[in-house]
Amino acid sequence: QSTDPDAAAPATPAADSAFLRACRREPVPHTPVWFMRQAGRSLPEYRKAREGIPMLDSCFMPELVAEITMQPVRRYGVDAAVFFSDIVTPLKAIGLDLEIKPGVGPVIAEPVRAAADLDRLRAPEPDELAPIAAAVRLLTAELGATPLIGFGGAPFTLASYLIEGGPSKGFEHTKAMMYGDPQLFTALLDRVADITSTFLLTQIDAGASAIQLFDSWVGSVAPVDYRQYVQPASAKVFAAVADRGVPRIHFGVGTGELLRDLGEAGADVVGVDWRVPLHEAERRVGPGKALQGNLDPATLFAPPAALDAAVQRVLDDAARLPGHVFNLGHGVPPNADPGQLARVVDYVHENTVRS
Ligand code: CP3
Repeated sequence: QSTDPDAAAPATPAADSAFLRACRREPVPHTPVWFMRQAGRSLPEYRKAREGIPMLDSCFMPELVAEITMQPVRRYGVDAAVFFSDIVTPLKAIGLDLEIKPGVGPVIAEPVRAAADLDRLRAPEPDELAPIAAAVRLLTAELGATPLIGFGGAPFTLASYLIEGGPSKGFEHTKAMMYGDPQLFTALLDRVADITSTFLLTQIDAGASAIQLFDSWVGSVAPVDYRQYVQPASAKVFAAVADRGVPRIHFGVGTGELLRDLGEAGADVVGVDWRVPLHEAERRVGPGKALQGNLDPATLFAPPAALDAAVQRVLDDAARLPGHVFNLGHGVPPNADPGQLARVVDYVHENTVRS
């Protein structure tokens, strides 16, 4: 094993893929494209596969996880697969009483509100994540040269579910703890960082060739508070996986004012929602990072010609970036038309061919 930090990562079948090349800001044959939530309710074959199986049960069934992860790869020919799971999967693995309610999201029976509640939180043991590792191994064998993106929930977003007990709009309990008991808040985020790090390392060590840290709801936090209370925990996650040498993507919604801080937490690729054009996002992020995004998911409901125009605008905004991974600015809406997603993939591939 080489100790040279600049040594190339081990050559895997996916190493030279357009997706990984774009993450490394190398020249690409075409702009790579995948979609957050590409596997899920928008696909009839997904709804059929999941029939009668609760979401969090399905995440611990390796064959089913592999099948659902493959569905959008087969249907669309996207440039990367994203592991089918959820940000709360490692919390389920350590025995927390939680479920994902359809149409609602993760619901936690006993929210974390006091120091004693931290005792219930610890990093998962390897055997508790064995089905996750098994699913990743099945997938990397089947995917060949198509990279698999592993993912985890960032400390703030996961902690917000733990503190609120479920989805929230205003994050009142979360912010009451952040401002009122910063010691407990940072201790909680630090512990969640260890949980997510273990979840990510499990996926990487089983064969995932990139990871994405989802801080979906961190856009609700002011930059000064982000840097003080949140960034150290997210940085701990990125540092925990740094020696694996896989590209690290960092994404949140409504993060226009946080783009530089998200990158500086330790990401190689910064995800951008649809509110900030990519040329402006590049200026805010600063040099040395690739960008991912940023088509407004709602354009999927527009007529095909208007969708094409919106895709072209994203490509125009990204034309001078050294590294661009095409994606939506957030997840695929459950009622999106798969035909429109197929149209986006074909449009990006056909209109970005480089000699
Ligand atoms: O992107 C993919 O295709 C991979 C799968 C994936 C899921 N969840 C599957 C899922 C990923 C990457 C996630 C991450 C996730 N989970 C995030 C971050 C991404 C984002 O959208 O910002 C968050 C905030 C969660 C928490 C969560 N889980 C929510 C808000 C929901 C939706 C609740 C609903 O029914 O509207 C879930 C459930 C969930 N996770 C579904 C899927 C396919 C729907 C479950 C179902 O089919 O009933």
